[in-house]
Amino acid sequence: MSFEIRPLSDALGAEVIGIDLTQPIDDAAFTVLHKAHLNYQVLVFREQQLTPQQQIDFSVRFGPLDKHPSQGKAHLEGYPDILVVSTKTENGKDVGIRNAGPAWHSDLAYMEQPALGSMLYALELPDSGGNTGFANMYAACEALPKDLREAVEKRRALFCSTRNKELKALHPILRTHPETGRKSIFVNPQLTHRINDMADDESDALLAEIYDHCRKPNFIYWHRWQPGDLTFWDNRCVLHIADHKRLDDPNYIRHMHRTTIAGDTPF
Ligand SMILES: [Fe+2]
Repeated sequence: MSFEIRPLSDALGAEVIGIDLTQPIDDAAFTVLHKAHLNYQVLVFREQQLTPQQQIDFSVRFGPLDKHPSQGKAHLEGYPDILVVSTKTENGKDVGIRNAGPAWHSDLAYMEQPALGSMLYALELPDSGGNTGFANMYAACEALPKDLREAVEKRRALFCSTRNKELKALHPILRTHPETGRKSIFVNPQLTHRINDMADDESDALLAEIYDHCRKPNFIYWHRWQPGDLTFWDNRCVLHIADHKRLDDPNYIRHMHRTTIAGDTPF
């Protein structure tokens, strides 16, 4: 099995060219892909033509799947493991999650065990817009100014779901990747509520400083989707955001299938 892995930016990300994910992936190829995923943090598999079951079969090579809390309402019919991320409506109702990821976040950060990673497969794309930003939280952590690092180093933050207030969890602000051993910044502006055991105003000011730091352009890669892209990010060391400037435009159709790989407890 031969394929090529090409870096996409200085920040993170690589594209995988010449692999057909409808075919079985042998162990040698899987090892190369797994290492590349840990190394580049985001992989983009180009020109795929996947059925929902084929996307599931490839996803479970990386671990058991996690059900998104919204999946009860937004899963693909007959495939509870696939979350539909879509701007489409049918009979006046959204067919999936319409405005997914409007701010920088990592998936399921409000769960005790946030996702290892997510795979997003592009089925229909708008003529422009709908890009996804990915930010390298290893690099952001390594470049943290000393005073900021000392202020958050041993602290934890409270994360809350924006859709279900019952879902909340405490996690370290700087987490250690369970496979690479590298430290990354884990807080994010969409799901982090506040820093634990800190006055609200102090917590707000500190988080704002960290977010400004994390959003520096040298940490970020903007993915411009191509039809057939399957993008797989490492949710443990990457923040992401969807850029939906035209969500109210009826010609703006962005329709995707997502699988979510279960993760472990951050430490
Ligand atoms: Fe997301």
